Order: sequence, then C-alpha cells, then structure tokens
Amino acid sequence: MEFKPFSKKQSLALRWWSMPGLGSYDAVICDGAVRSGKTLCMSLGFVLWASACFDGASFAVCGKTITALRRNLVSPLLQTLRSLGFDCKEKVSANYADISMAGTVSNRFYFFGGKDEGSAALIQGMTLSGVLLDEVALMPRSFVEQAIARCSVTGSRLWFNCNPEHPAHWFYREWICKKDEKNALYLHFTMDDNPALSSEVRRRYERLYSGVFYERFVLGKWTQTGGLVYPMFSREKCVGSPPEQCSEYCISCDYGTVNPSSFGLWGRYGEVWYRLREYYYDARKAGLSRTDEEHYRELCALADDVPVRKVIIDPSAASMIACIERHGRFRVIRADNRVLTGIQRVSEALSSGKIIISPECADTIREFSLYCWDEGAKGDCPKKENDHAMDDIRYFVMSELAEKNSSFFAASARRRKE
Ligand SMILES: Nc1ncnc2c1ncn2[C@@H]1O[C@H](COP(=O)(O)OP(=O)(O)OP(=O)(O)O)[C@@H](O)[C@H]1O
Ligand SMILES: [Mg+2]
Repeated sequence: MEFKPFSKKQSLALRWWSMPGLGSYDAVICDGAVRSGKTLCMSLGFVLWASACFDGASFAVCGKTITALRRNLVSPLLQTLRSLGFDCKEKVSANYADISMAGTVSNRFYFFGGKDEGSAALIQGMTLSGVLLDEVALMPRSFVEQAIARCSVTGSRLWFNCNPEHPAHWFYREWICKKDEKNALYLHFTMDDNPALSSEVRRRYERLYSGVFYERFVLGKWTQTGGLVYPMFSREKCVGSPPEQCSEYCISCDYGTVNPSSFGLWGRYGEVWYRLREYYYDARKAGLSRTDEEHYRELCALADDVPVRKVIIDPSAASMIACIERHGRFRVIRADNRVLTGIQRVSEALSSGKIIISPECADTIREFSLYCWDEGAKGDCPKKENDHAMDDIRYFVMSELAEKNSSFFAASARRRKE
C-alpha cells in the first residue's frame, strides 16, 4: 500500500513509547471516529515497539473476531512490515506470526478474536509482553481482562483502540475516565487525523450516519442514546407515493398476541424499497385477540394480487412461522434480530433514501415519531413502546438491505457484523 505521511496524531500513536515524556506510560488508548487511521498506525507501532524492546517474547494481537482481525489488521500489517524489511513467518493454522527485524530480534505475535468462542480459555495461561486490542469496546470484558492479566513481563504495555459506544460502557468508565489512574496515554482521533481519507469519502461517511451514530462514528464522541431513535425520519424526506409497479415484493412481520402485530408489504423500484401498505392489529385496543389463522388471512390480503414470495418474520414467532409454513404459499425468512445493528442500518436506509414509506402506512409514520430510547437503561436500549412497525422494518432492512446486497452498507456493517 502507498503511505501518506502520518498525521501528528498517528505519529504519536506510532512512536509514543520512544518519546521523551511519553515513554513512561503503561498503556495507550486511541479512540474516536471511524476510518480515522487508528488501526494502521497502532498495529505498526505495536510491532516496532515490540521489536525495539524485546527479543524472544510473546505478544497478543486481538480483534473482535479472528476473521475481522485478519482482514482489517493482520494482512495489511504483514504486508507493510515486509515492505519495510521485516521477516514475517505466519502460521495461519496456529494463529500466530514470528516477526523478526533484520535477522536480529524475533518475537511471536499470537492472534485472537475476543468474541470467538473459547478465546478467553486460549489466552489464559500465556505470558505476554504486550497486547494490542483492536476495537476493544466490541469485545467481552472477560476476554479483555484475561488478556490484560497475561501481561506480566517487566516493561509490558497495553495498546487499545476503539470507536465510541454508550458512555456507560465498561471500557469508557474503567479506562478512558480513569486514564490517569491507569497511567495510560489517551489519544483522541477525528477523521482529520487520517491523511489518506479523501474529502469525498469523508462526506459519504458524514451522510451515512445520523443521530447518535453520527455523534459516535463521525464526531467520535461517547454519546448517550436519548430522544427519538430515528430523528432523521421526516415526512418530507421519508414519506412518498410509491410507483404503480415494482420489480420485487416481500412482507416483513412483527408478531404479537397481546401486543400489536405489524406486517408491511414492500416493493422494490430500482434501488429503492417502498413500504406500500401495512396491516397493524392492536388486540388490546380492539379488545379481541386474533388467532394465527386470522393473522395469516390478513397476511394473504396484504399480499393481495402482487407476487410475494418471502415473508421475513420475527424469529421468536414460532406458532406464526409454523402457520405460514403449513400453508406453503410463502417462503419464511427468520429475521436477524440484532437490535442496535438493525437500528443503525434502518437509520442509514432512511438517511440515504433507500426506504420510502407510503402515506397509507399511518401506524409506521406514527411510530417513527414516537419510538424513543430508554434513557434510564444502562446501554443502548430503545423503549419497548411504539416499536411494532419499527421492529418489522428493522427485520426487513436487516434481511433485504444486508451488506452482501449493497456496497452502500459495507463500510458501516463491516464494523459490527462479525
Ligand atoms: N498515513 C496513511 N497512509 C495511507 N493510508 C492510510 C494512512 N492512515 C490510514 N490509512 C488508511 O485509511 C483507512 C482507515 O485507517 P484505519 O483502518 O487505521 O482507521 P481506523 O480509525 O482504525 O478505522 P475504524 O474505526 O473504522 O476501525 C485504511 O484503509 C488505512 O489503510
Ligand atoms: Mg480500526
């Protein structure tokens, strides 16, 4: 790869351990915006530091999953090191690489995926001289603490980086807020700190995120979720008359027995999916609950005369799924129910005009204006109110606008998918 001269912040992250006044820190934390150049300079700095200070030692380089780590960090790092004259012998099957500098010192770097099953057990018992935790806020605390506890060699150091999450997140509270107590150097990155980020790509990221995700991923702030979940929803931008004919159709369902059921019919026109019409049944309000067969009849009525082949549904709606499958008319897709990832993708779809709501969908429009975060919760949690159409829309977006189908989502989904 072609390097641009490192920014000031990147140079610090790369060389802090050798700089007067900074060399006495036990740890370094780089947080901030996405694509701000943290991983590149930290991973290189980590190997340079290890090679300058140790020989025959072991280190751990950890990502959220081993797959993500290989793609985002190990491959570009080894390529860069080789171009700088390092000898890197990677043992892929054993997840480590021996890296030596000019035939002199040699150290071993083990690779871990913090979220991979059994990773805490694998790292347990190792003696390490340093650990680099890439995207630390996305790893289980137990793994991170285990990795830290392994660094018992004199002179060992901890290298952390992450994007911001909720300010109640343990890493923020335990490390960023207590950086002085932990003797950690704290470097906050913004997109300005990446000299390779073109203004065009940067604008794309700025358009992609909104609300709390904009604050976190573009501005790099540890912002609390609050207010509306979808502040980017507006009638002017997100509600519009659908075309008469679409090229593809599907239905998404959030199923409730006591709580409302919300089914939406979607039609694709070019790159845009329109929510054409919906079925929203509130048993409590109506004073009468409906059977699965009754809901199924409404599902068929919603499909009416358009060729709907699949129904994307709440994976926990076992009896309704069984009912739809029994009839054999629609293929059932069990939805991906990761809430925060789903909200993020719906936000992006709304902001970019990938989904448009027909004015007929009154309950969806109502819920968009009411669906809010639970500010009392210790994390990113939407209130369980006015969330039925919101859930079926999330299921739809997670299934139909997934990363694999759209380059648009690749950048943001990359972070959270594994
Ligand atoms: N000095 C540089 N020269 C060339 N390319 C760079 C430079 N700094 C960063 N990049 C490139 O910019 C992109 C983003 O950098 P990097 O992955 O380090 O950012 P990040 O802050 O870790 O992002 P994220 O928060 O999304 O993980 C990468 O493709 C990286 O190779
Ligand atoms: Mg990174």
